Amino acid sequence: MILEARDVGFRYPSGAPVLDGVSFGVTPGRSVALVGESAAGKTTLLRLLLGLRRPTSGAVLFQGAPLPTGHRAAREFRRHVQTVFQDPYSSLDPRQKVSRIVAEPLRAVGFTDHEPRVSAALDAVGLPVDAADRYPHEFSGGQRQRIAIARAIAVEPTVLLADEPVSALDVTTKVRIIDLLAELRATRGLTLVLVSHDLAAVASLCDETVVLERGRVVEQGPTGAVLGSPRDAYTRKLIASIPRLP
Ligand SMILES: Nc1ncnc2c1ncn2[C@@H]1O[C@H](COP(=O)(O)OP(=O)(O)O)[C@@H](O)[C@H]1O
Ligand SMILES: [Mg+2]
Repeated sequence: MILEARDVGFRYPSGAPVLDGVSFGVTPGRSVALVGESAAGKTTLLRLLLGLRRPTSGAVLFQGAPLPTGHRAAREFRRHVQTVFQDPYSSLDPRQKVSRIVAEPLRAVGFTDHEPRVSAALDAVGLPVDAADRYPHEFSGGQRQRIAIARAIAVEPTVLLADEPVSALDVTTKVRIIDLLAELRATRGLTLVLVSHDLAAVASLCDETVVLERGRVVEQGPTGAVLGSPRDAYTRKLIASIPRLP
């Protein structure tokens, strides 16, 4: 396993338990989907996998060891694990040029040769190199999500955690971004953890699927089996609530 949640429980300081006994992992180069209704705890689980929050019980492991706490080790972790958020409008600072936005993880991790890496990342997501000199508002939603993906892959991470990366996009754009993620998986061997409501995206991108219901894993396994012949009543309900699958 490259990234693993082991019997993870979590509650925010202010509230009730959000995650309870969650265990799942992803092996290098593979992809896992996290699905479940709104408020199931998917985003919280990603925050724990990113080390932004610590589990209340259980552990999150990266390459078999608990997530690092020291500054240097945390930098090394960031070098390997990057993220893309849902909303390409709020996730990009409107006052900064794209070059600076995409270079942000490079700075955080300690790279000094930003320019060639920013160009390579923009090229990899299908944006023209001159996008670097422009501002986020000059781009469409799909292009902004490409900028966010360029930012995530600029450090050439091993693992990408994506939280509903296509749910704010229209159907055509959605398909293009899913294709891009599939291409990045294939060409870079990226390990992917994808949170998505879009079961078509899940079916096309993810080897395995984990179903969360109110903070608990109710079903997990190969995506074909989970979506094709779900054993759990909640999973069946979730699939039935999606208008249609490909
Ligand atoms: N920062 C927070 N403080 C307190 N409660 C939170 C916070 N973020 C999320 N929650 C609560 O945790 C639960 C799970 O939320 P979330 O992880 O965002 O679910 P999902 O991504 O599956 O919709 C919800 O009940 C939500 O209200
Ligand atoms: Mg969420």
